[in-house]
Amino acid sequence: MSAHPAENILLRPALENLPAYVAGKPAADDGIHRYKVSSNESPFPPVQAVREAAIASLEQTHRYPDAAAQELRDALGREHGVEASQICLSTGSVAVSGDLVRALVGEGDEVVFAWRSFEAYPILVGSHGGVPVPVPLTEDGEHDLEAMAVAITERTRLILLCTPNNPTGPSLSTDQVEEFLARVPDHVVVAIDEAYREFHDPATVLGTAGIFRRHGNVVLLRTFSKLQGLAGLRIGYAVAHPRLARALGQVTVPFGASAPAQAAALASLHPEVRDELDRRAGWIRDERSRVLRALAEQGWELPVSHGNFVYFPLGERSGEFTEFADARGLVLRAYGADGVRATIAEQEANDRLIQIAGAWRER
Ligand SMILES: Cc1ncc(COP(=O)(O)O)c(C=O)c1O
Repeated sequence: MSAHPAENILLRPALENLPAYVAGKPAADDGIHRYKVSSNESPFPPVQAVREAAIASLEQTHRYPDAAAQELRDALGREHGVEASQICLSTGSVAVSGDLVRALVGEGDEVVFAWRSFEAYPILVGSHGGVPVPVPLTEDGEHDLEAMAVAITERTRLILLCTPNNPTGPSLSTDQVEEFLARVPDHVVVAIDEAYREFHDPATVLGTAGIFRRHGNVVLLRTFSKLQGLAGLRIGYAVAHPRLARALGQVTVPFGASAPAQAAALASLHPEVRDELDRRAGWIRDERSRVLRALAEQGWELPVSHGNFVYFPLGERSGEFTEFADARGLVLRAYGADGVRATIAEQEANDRLIQIAGAWRER
């Protein structure tokens, strides 16, 4: 059957200039053993109890999942000290971010975010008719909160803060966020995307719960894709104040969180599983320190990282470095002519990153 050209279909003009989402490159199948460290995935397979919960749920997949995801939302509500109705689930936190845009942003309304940051942001905003307002990071790869505050206009509806910032690594402190929020009108929603929160040093991690309690315009975004290792099941959520939570419920895809995803997420909250996940987070932090120390000894000056990744601000040479690594068995993520990100993964992959980065400098 040949494809019909369908030339007369009227697509929204906004789609014409939209960048495509570039997923982390898979490893090429050419005989070289490569580590894929291009998507900030967990190097650990799901914890056994989580795996078992997901598999057990398959027995019921001829039924729709619990649309309210009541058990999971009850558990998450308890964890965050909010009502279950304030937990808004969807197919990954990227989908919840899309729900935020759909709930808040009309044609021509503006969404402010740091850049570079999570590459889905401009796509989510642009595809829903909003105007992306990317604000360049500082030289150290940090959010320029001063410039972001100045970028707020009467058309601003949403501000996305990504902490730790993907792909550069620095995080925001509670004081920084509070000072910033003091400059944001309270009708403008500020989403704090903490996809990598668990990899932060717990002693200095953002005091998100207090910030949320103090500000009616703050919404939190969390995912099970990173530390919990459920990227392939697709589940993430927002913690929102009631009015926004209701709006998110109105725009979200019904039954977004599948039964296996709900079951696996719920099992991830079990105390024994959490202990194991905490150990894994500690291991990733130790590996990140080891890698950053080794790279510093080689002479690299990289931004601090609080995520499960490190960032090489190589500018125009980003593509070249990525190819250099690829030929030596490591699949990295290049960001145009800005830089290159490498996920902290299994130890052999981290060793290889150190070797390759050293070889690059000695060429
Ligand atoms: C900052 C940030 N937010 C959200 C996500 C998406 O997470 P999810 O898999 O839950 O959609 C990612 C994934 O890479 C991310 O880096």
